[in-house]
Amino acid sequence: MQLTSTNSSIGLIYALKKIFKLIVLINIIYIGNCFYWLLYDNQLNILMKKISKILVTGCAGFIGSEFSKKMLKKYRVIGLDNLDDYYSVKLKRKRLQILNKNRNFNFIKVDIRNYKKLNRIVKKHDFHYVYHFAAQAGVRYSKINPKKYTSTNITGTLNLLNCLKNKKIKKIFLASSSSVYGESNNFPLKEKEKLKPKNHYAYTKKINEITGRSFSKIYKLKIYMLRFFTVYGEWGRPDMFYFKLFKTMFSKKNFELNNNGNHDRDFTHIDDVCEILEKITKKRIKKDFDIFNICSNKPVNIKKILYFVDKEILKVKFKFISRNILDVKKTHGCNKKILKIVGKKKFKNCYNSTLKLFNWYKKNKIYQY
Ligand SMILES: NC(=O)c1ccc[n+]([C@@H]2O[C@H](COP(=O)([O-])OP(=O)(O)OC[C@H]3O[C@@H](n4cnc5c(N)ncnc54)[C@H](O)[C@@H]3O)[C@@H](O)[C@H]2O)c1
Repeated sequence: MQLTSTNSSIGLIYALKKIFKLIVLINIIYIGNCFYWLLYDNQLNILMKKISKILVTGCAGFIGSEFSKKMLKKYRVIGLDNLDDYYSVKLKRKRLQILNKNRNFNFIKVDIRNYKKLNRIVKKHDFHYVYHFAAQAGVRYSKINPKKYTSTNITGTLNLLNCLKNKKIKKIFLASSSSVYGESNNFPLKEKEKLKPKNHYAYTKKINEITGRSFSKIYKLKIYMLRFFTVYGEWGRPDMFYFKLFKTMFSKKNFELNNNGNHDRDFTHIDDVCEILEKITKKRIKKDFDIFNICSNKPVNIKKILYFVDKEILKVKFKFISRNILDVKKTHGCNKKILKIVGKKKFKNCYNSTLKLFNWYKKNKIYQY
C-alpha cells in the first residue's frame, strides 16, 4: 500500500518535471520568436523611440510601393491608393501584399478625388513627411481619356494639398514628370528650362507644379516637385517600355517600335530614385518651394536596347511603326541640382540592369499580370 503511494508520488513528480521542462521550452521558443519579430519588423525602433510617420499616396503603384518598402525600414508608412484599373489591379495587390507583411505599414483604400474621405483620413494623422505619387500616369492614354488626367492629377492633387494646408508637415514631395519639358532640346535639360508640354498628361503635371508653388507661398508649406525621368526596374509599370517588350517576347508577338526606335530616354533605375528620395527627406533645402530633376543623366537609344536584348537575352520579333505625336524624341535631364543636395552617387547602368530585370520578370512570371 505504502509502496503504491510512493510510486504514485514519484510518478507525479516526474510528470510535473516534464510539464515544467515543457513550459520552459515553450517560453524559450516564445521569447526567441518575439525577439525575431522585434528585429525583423523593426519594432525595436518603435520601443526605443517614436518613429516618424509618413504619408505615401499611390502606394500600390510602381514608385509608391518601392519607395514605401525602402522607407519602412525607418518610418511608419500610411499608404493610400484607389487601386485604379488603368493597368493590372492584380499586380497592384501583389505589391501591397509585400508591404502588408510589415507591421509599420497601413493601407487605406481611397480615391484622392473624394475630398471628404481624403480629408477625414489626413485629419486623423500627424505626418512628418508626405510623398504624393498617386496619379493617372502614361502619355499615350491621355489622348484617349483626357478627363481622367484632369480629375485625378489636377483635382486630386489640389484636394490633397487642401487637406494638408494647415498641418505641420516638414516637407511635401509631389511627383512631376520629365514630360513637362516637351520637345525642348537644350540637353541636358535644367530645371529652369522653359516648359513646352505636348500632351495632356504633361499639362496636368505642369499645373501641379504651379499649384504646388502657390500652396507653398500662401500656406508657408515646404513643397518640392520631383521631375521623374523614365523610371524602370523590378515591380515596374506594364505600360512602359521594358515590361511591354518582355511581355511581347513571352507571348511571341511582334514588338512595335515607335519612330523606328529613334528615341532616347534617360532611363533611371528605381533603386537610384528611392535612394535619392530617402536622402532628400532629411536634407536641408534652402527654398520653401523647389523643383528637381530625378534622372541618371545617361540617355539611351531605344533601338540600341532592343538590339542588346535580342543579342544577349532572347530573340525579339519587332516591327517599326511611325512616330506617335504625343512622344518626345529625347529625354535627357541634368541632375546637378539634386546631387548638390543629396551628394554625388553612381547611377545604375541601363544595359547591366536589363539582364537582371529580365531574369526577375521571368522568375516572378510578371507576364501573367
Ligand atoms: N514611372 C515613371 O517613369 C514616371 C515618370 C514621370 C513621372 N512619374 C510620376 O510618378 C508618379 C508615380 O508613377 P508610377 O510609375 O508609380 O505610376 P503608377 O501608375 O504605377 O502609380 C500610381 C498609383 O496611383 C494610384 N491612383 C491613380 N488614381 C488614383 C486616385 N484617383 N486616387 C488614389 N490613387 C490613385 C494608382 O492606382 C497607382 O497605384 C506619378 O505621379 C507619375 O505621373 C512616373
